[in-house]
Amino acid sequence: MTQFPLSPFLPVCALLAGLMLSLNSTQAQPAYSGRVMSLLRQMSLEEKAGQLNLQAGHDVGFDPLARAPITSPQVEQAIREGKVGGVLNITGAQNTRQLQLVATTQSRLKIPLLIGLDVVHGFRTIFPVPIGQAASFNLDLISRAERVAALEATAAGINWTFAPVLDMARDPRWGRMVETAGESPWYTAAVGQARVRAFQGDQLSDPSSMLACAKHFIGNGATEGGREYTGTNLSFRSMRDNELPPFEAAVKAGIGCIMPAFNAVDGVPGIVNQRMLSEVLRKEWRFEGLVVTDHGAIAELPNHGVAANLSGASRAAIVSGVDMDMASMGFGPTLPDAVRSGALDEALLDQAVLRVLAIKERLGLFDDPFARHDTAREKQLVGHPDHALLARQLAEESLVLLKNDKALLPFKRSARSIALIGPFGADQDHLMGPWEASGIHREVVSLREGITRVQPRISIRTVTTGYDDKPDAKALAQAVAAAQASELVVLALGEKAMDSGEASSRANPGLPGQQLALIKAVARLGKPFVVVVMAGRPMIEPALYALSPAVVQAWFPGSQGGEAIARMLFGLSEPVGRLPVGIVRSVGQIPLTHDKRPTGRPSAGPPEAWVSGYIDEATTPLYPFGFGLSYTTFAYSAPVLLDHDDGDATGYRIKVTVKNTGSRAGTTLVQLYTHQRLAAISQPEKQLRGFTRLYLNPGEQADAIITLKRDELSYWSSETIRQPAQGWIDVMTGPNAGETMATALFVQ
Ligand code: GLC
Repeated sequence: MTQFPLSPFLPVCALLAGLMLSLNSTQAQPAYSGRVMSLLRQMSLEEKAGQLNLQAGHDVGFDPLARAPITSPQVEQAIREGKVGGVLNITGAQNTRQLQLVATTQSRLKIPLLIGLDVVHGFRTIFPVPIGQAASFNLDLISRAERVAALEATAAGINWTFAPVLDMARDPRWGRMVETAGESPWYTAAVGQARVRAFQGDQLSDPSSMLACAKHFIGNGATEGGREYTGTNLSFRSMRDNELPPFEAAVKAGIGCIMPAFNAVDGVPGIVNQRMLSEVLRKEWRFEGLVVTDHGAIAELPNHGVAANLSGASRAAIVSGVDMDMASMGFGPTLPDAVRSGALDEALLDQAVLRVLAIKERLGLFDDPFARHDTAREKQLVGHPDHALLARQLAEESLVLLKNDKALLPFKRSARSIALIGPFGADQDHLMGPWEASGIHREVVSLREGITRVQPRISIRTVTTGYDDKPDAKALAQAVAAAQASELVVLALGEKAMDSGEASSRANPGLPGQQLALIKAVARLGKPFVVVVMAGRPMIEPALYALSPAVVQAWFPGSQGGEAIARMLFGLSEPVGRLPVGIVRSVGQIPLTHDKRPTGRPSAGPPEAWVSGYIDEATTPLYPFGFGLSYTTFAYSAPVLLDHDDGDATGYRIKVTVKNTGSRAGTTLVQLYTHQRLAAISQPEKQLRGFTRLYLNPGEQADAIITLKRDELSYWSSETIRQPAQGWIDVMTGPNAGETMATALFVQ
């Protein structure tokens, strides 16, 4: 049983933090190199505060192409004066080299710059959005994709990405679900570790490595009403179950940076949450890296009502454990005077500066500040054709087949005509999703282009209807006519890229505009059709799933998305994607996740009074977590324990026998869930604890063996006690969280 000391009186912590640091607190301080310590001794207060300032790399806004050299006299002058420790949103080996040159040859102390960008799912080659990548349940492929992202970004001068997003996504009204790995804390932790290792490589100093930054710490996806930037009201203990594990896993994987969230948790904004930034992150997890605010978060503190002005906000942030100020221009201009007036202990400023300098040293920036600014390497690596192939493969594996009545899919390759209807049939502007970094729209393979590549002789009738247009009888008539005249019919529907992601919470996350009218008009023909949904979240739109014979959730599939979708539609690849978030029937059910807790009055699912549920809605999702169809069918056996109560040192092996009962070869994702039956705190009904893929030929049968790791069975029985598993554990396996069979394991 592990006890973690927690300080119950948070306000006192602020004082203690300063006191402890200035008195060389007992907490072990990381050893800093002589070079870093010597630099600190030479720095003026202004230069110290300057190192903590992260600002835009140029004055013209983000330029994804970074072709022409960007000149920013004001930025260069600030760097020359030692007022900048890092820049963001400037790309290109040449542009970033210029700023690095100013920093290392024209400033007094010649300290190199951190150069950051949101490389969230690709740099120039754009992979499926993170929620789509998560649907692949292929950690190796995700890792390979993010390694390519790091290769391309570092070739273009970037040494810091503001990724991975490790927020839990349990509310589809929240637009940033698109950036997450879904609703399972255990799976999000696994995906996060794969991403951190891919971004940071084996050595941060390798020119192909970039500093990763886990965000947004903490509870960003659990805001009230799913409203972006709004407060989160979660108990600390429930955060132990859900929000904290992915970040702890990232720290264990060696991540060098954490970004606190904009939102407040129980009234305490992320950048002044001492319990999280100091007690948990620094003391409990022993994190020694960099804490950087989100964009302008310090300047927003007065809006939260916890600081009177920018100066007070800056002090509160650095006292709470923030090291760098992104874009508030708070630390640089106000901290020197705060130290001079005695309002801020210089030891806190030194602590932050040492962390920034130490990260720069780990990145190798002092030894070779231009290693990531090589235009020849940029030309060779950025957008390399091999990367496109990987992007297509991951896009294929991200696609989730939700419905396929009468095996409408895959289409026959002999088909001679197809109607492609909707806002996203020929679209190249939205498939990359909301974080397109340096992706180039005209390089995106649209669905129409993909179909042309896969079926060169097929004739395509494209009807590009509006996205959120008003009822347009003409467009509907054109769509119906095209559908009537074609053998195959595909509706490419969904959300615009910028209607997903940050600042795009939707109270009604259904099909926007007239898209449902389009489905109804085509459905009236009585002819089979497929709906391909491009969006950063599942559409909460019952009629979409009820009226469409076949539905593919394609998320935002990235630069190669169109070909990936076409290959699946025509059977050149099979649907292997599975839902990393369940799809609720209605907004009123939110939140509804596979790991909900039991209640005193369990519901059987259908609407019912006097049980934990609704009288007007079911308590089950429309599509459960882990759901996804194949082009064949499978039969699953119940789980069999290969190791009984003792198990071996690592854990318990569980066997599931699966048979391909269909007529095509196919892949299924065998999933394993557990439930601690008895505990001091009621434990979630189902928690994903393992999965493995099986590829089977028609009629073939095989055993899937999943090892249930002993230490992953422990659970938080209070805010500070991590309880090893004991007693009966329900072990459930199946093709998704809604279709499982169980056995029981007794753990001593
Ligand atoms: C945004 C996002 C954050 C991002 C930062 C820099 O506001 O919240 O995820 O890294 O600004 O672009």
